[in-house]
Amino acid sequence: MSAVHLPVLTREMLDLLSPREGGTYIDATVGLGGHSEALLKTVGINGRVIGIDRDEEALKKTEERLQDSRLSLIKGKFSDMEDLLHDRGIHEADGVLFDLGVSMMQLKETDRGFSFISSETLDMRMDRSQGLSARDVVNRYSEKDLVRVLKEYGEEYRALRVARAITNYRDKKSIDTGEELADIVLRALGRRGRTHPATKTFQALRIEVNREIEELRLGLQSALRLLTTGGRFCVISYHSLEDRVVKNFIRDNARNAVLRPLVKKPLTPERQELRENPSSRSAKMRGAEKL
Ligand SMILES: C[S@@+](CC[C@H](N)C(=O)[O-])C[C@H]1O[C@@H](n2cnc3c(N)ncnc32)[C@H](O)[C@@H]1O
Repeated sequence: MSAVHLPVLTREMLDLLSPREGGTYIDATVGLGGHSEALLKTVGINGRVIGIDRDEEALKKTEERLQDSRLSLIKGKFSDMEDLLHDRGIHEADGVLFDLGVSMMQLKETDRGFSFISSETLDMRMDRSQGLSARDVVNRYSEKDLVRVLKEYGEEYRALRVARAITNYRDKKSIDTGEELADIVLRALGRRGRTHPATKTFQALRIEVNREIEELRLGLQSALRLLTTGGRFCVISYHSLEDRVVKNFIRDNARNAVLRPLVKKPLTPERQELRENPSSRSAKMRGAEKL
């Protein structure tokens, strides 16, 4: 099954970055290229967009879809952004965009193993050439480490109960699929409300597998070093852990007069966008300008 990804908060992203003609813009999470496409429309014939993604499949699709000589696509992690760009002779940028998390393509294509209705192998690696998968985490981590991951990245207050259910199950049989894991968590926690009880567990595993928080911290520092004076970055995040990292990064650098925040409160999708794209509902965007 192939899924499209509707870019989120596109107009707001353009307002915050306010791209200039002839500028160099980095889309640190190019995905299926929705935001890059919008940026390309604003940077004029001499502008350029560099799209980075750690997911080879997303890059291939974007390359086919947006054939534009002003767009360069690079496979890699955004924490390595400076090296990736320096290798191509690029030493500064006028704007950097991060649209965090996973794309619809990654979530919906069942063989990527992100979903809890998937009977495919539990995987969750954005970069499939990387070693550690979600299956490794649930089958190999100690109970103590599982508790840490579930608490820290899933904010799951019943982490011990979930971790114990996982270790008890795998004593008999390895946990192989998303469906299997979702069922283990459901049996351990029971169902309350509309959200599946395994939602937090799946979020935690995804963050652990892809080192998402560490990536974000390093990515923000790299972006700051690459930006020209007056250059801007913006970040679209989808859960409170990410948003907190971004908020603190901007606050700390504003205190040191390195950044000027562009919004007081994070921007969120307007009613029309929510109607057209319900999966945008958790999106929050913050941005800052380098002084
Ligand atoms: C929400 S999607 C981006 C969608 C994109 N803005 C669009 O309009 O199609 C996030 C993308 O970021 C990529 N990604 C997440 N963390 C990354 C990282 N640390 N380095 C590089 N790419 C990353 C994922 O592989 C995914 O394709």
